[in-house]
Amino acid sequence: MDGRLAIEGGQPVRTAPFPSWPVWDEREEKLLLEVLHSGKWGMLNGEQVAAFETRFAQFQGASYALCVTNGTSALEIALRALGVGPGDELITSPYSFVATPSAAFLTGARPVFADIDPETYLLDPVKVEAAISERTKAVIPVHVAGCPADMDGIMDVARRYNLYVIEDACQAWGAAWKGTPVGTIGDLGCFSFQASKNINAGEGGAIVTNNPELEDRCWSLHNVGRIRTGDWYQHEVLGWNHRMTEWQGAILLAQLERLPEHMERRSDNAAYLTARLNEVHGITPARVDDRVTRHAWHLYMTTYDADAFGGKPLQAFLEMLRGEGIPCSPGYGPLHHAPSVRRAWAEQEGKIAAWDMTTADLPQWPPCPVAEDLCTRTIWFKQSMLLGAHKDMDDIVNAILKIQKAVT
Ligand SMILES: Cc1ncc(COP(=O)(O)O)c(C=O)c1O
Repeated sequence: MDGRLAIEGGQPVRTAPFPSWPVWDEREEKLLLEVLHSGKWGMLNGEQVAAFETRFAQFQGASYALCVTNGTSALEIALRALGVGPGDELITSPYSFVATPSAAFLTGARPVFADIDPETYLLDPVKVEAAISERTKAVIPVHVAGCPADMDGIMDVARRYNLYVIEDACQAWGAAWKGTPVGTIGDLGCFSFQASKNINAGEGGAIVTNNPELEDRCWSLHNVGRIRTGDWYQHEVLGWNHRMTEWQGAILLAQLERLPEHMERRSDNAAYLTARLNEVHGITPARVDDRVTRHAWHLYMTTYDADAFGGKPLQAFLEMLRGEGIPCSPGYGPLHHAPSVRRAWAEQEGKIAAWDMTTADLPQWPPCPVAEDLCTRTIWFKQSMLLGAHKDMDDIVNAILKIQKAVT
């Protein structure tokens, strides 16, 4: 190998693809055919969704799991079950998928962004406490990348101020904080089974809780406001059809069966990659708190220091890395800068018709300097890359080292 970068005509570090996603076999096939032949394609008269709910609840150490259409609806239903609505504020992270604040807006409440920890990328409990007002009703920690947020700190603040906690665990199936699986440390936990996720039904979501009353409310909200003891056309609250199909339930049963083995493999590769990246100047993997006893590794996140790479901007570095055969992305932008979130805020204030606004008209949220800074220098690797072998991790590190040598 001549050391010339692939984007300049050199030979790439790697040409072989990383493991593809989704992973499936005859288990999914068999269960899907069972649904087909049963003629029971909806969860109201089928068995697959119910069976998955039982197994997923066990897996997360929860008393209840309720399947819904996606992670966004899981969050919205959870918030509505807690009675969150117009006039309320919800404190959450500016470093998440847009669905976290969207769900807050969909209830009529307002998200308030508290900054993140500069090493873990996760919601900082000190910043949460500083963001509390008399309108604050709940906190939504997000277990970004599958790494549990500081649940000791967040639960402590929540207890002292009498706030609900909804865990956005949409990326954190099987993750645990001090031995307790995420989702039931707070009042309700929300999960996603969308196509990129570590268990994948194309789309799908779930809410877990240990509280039977909250589970019952979520059940009503996801089933057009019916109550379990009521008649078919008896609708006691305003609900939606957020029911999962039996096809999804069937696929999820097979995906969940495979998850423990996948979790082992991702953890092993992530530990190996971290050990190797710790030797690379200018690349700093996201810190995993010692109290995280299980990480779901939906993403592998690391910060990039341009000074160690000849001042090359992140985007230029990512192009070089992709050229070497390593898929990567810069990940999220800060949510409080997202036009959709700023638009929703203005609309909530009744100021301007949302579609007519230009970005210049939109209100500006208070800064979250840590998130803003990290969003300019973060590299993400996808979960499926961690399903390979140590040799695949070596290729990631070798490509980074090759670029470093070429640009410094
Ligand atoms: C952190 C987080 N919250 C919420 C969601 C929303 O889930 P869904 O796409 O299933 O609606 C996602 C999924 O991308 C997510 O990653």
